[in-house]
Amino acid sequence: MKIESSVVGNKRDKVLRHGEKIIRKKVQRRTKRTAHPPLPRAIQTLFYACREVFHGPGTVPLPLDVQKMQLILDKMKPQDFGLTGDINFFKAKNVANGTPRITYTSIYNCDNFSMCIFFLPPSAVIPLHNHPGMTVFSKLLFGSMHIKAYDWVDPVESDETLPFSQSARLARVEMDTVFTAPCKTSILYPAAGGNIHAFTAVTPCVILDVLGPPYSKEDDRDCTYYRDLAYSRSSDPAEEVKEGNVSYGWLEEIEMPKDLKMDGGQYLGPQIFDSIS
Ligand SMILES: [Fe+2]
Repeated sequence: MKIESSVVGNKRDKVLRHGEKIIRKKVQRRTKRTAHPPLPRAIQTLFYACREVFHGPGTVPLPLDVQKMQLILDKMKPQDFGLTGDINFFKAKNVANGTPRITYTSIYNCDNFSMCIFFLPPSAVIPLHNHPGMTVFSKLLFGSMHIKAYDWVDPVESDETLPFSQSARLARVEMDTVFTAPCKTSILYPAAGGNIHAFTAVTPCVILDVLGPPYSKEDDRDCTYYRDLAYSRSSDPAEEVKEGNVSYGWLEEIEMPKDLKMDGGQYLGPQIFDSIS
């Protein structure tokens, strides 16, 4: 009996030890998962933030939401978009035939926001254009770029004459700066922060644009192009007047410049997982 009891006891102990082993392994696996959850890719974090921050046409993100976007974008690097190795791939190809050709690639597009990347060879220009009703985050990922940006001066002062064209409208210079990556994110709003801007590539550069809401012809948010003309109260129209630290210019609406060469390209970076969880 003693022997039988011992055998039974041994078997029971063996079963218990086996059970403990299985439980320990399960706990270890669970602990491992909990302690080190996989970090979402930066682009996925940006996507989740966009979904929370942009609420569609007629809305502007709240200051705290703008700050959230800014914190995410400020840290983003070319690698977050799969841009590694020879990032200058577009440099030689796009300047070979004279006019520098710009490449753009759409990453994501929905009714509330869109994300796209522009690749500019040196001296390429995205001419002055507006963003009607939009908030736009522009993050220079690579290279050096000059950005000039205006906001409308409203209403146009009645004593101002329109020296160039009846369609010209007075605008205030909000930005006239060269940015070099890595740098902070630029933000423009529907009526502030430089809603009408132009990009000029000083070196090959890559810039990410996050627009909310996106352009839409149907919803009266089409892109309009402008040329800027010197503003002056004096008889010399070539002189751009600075009042205090503020500069102005006349913006005249133009057709999309014929020498603006843009080629669409496929986005090959990390994909966005966009199902609502
Ligand atoms: Fe723009």
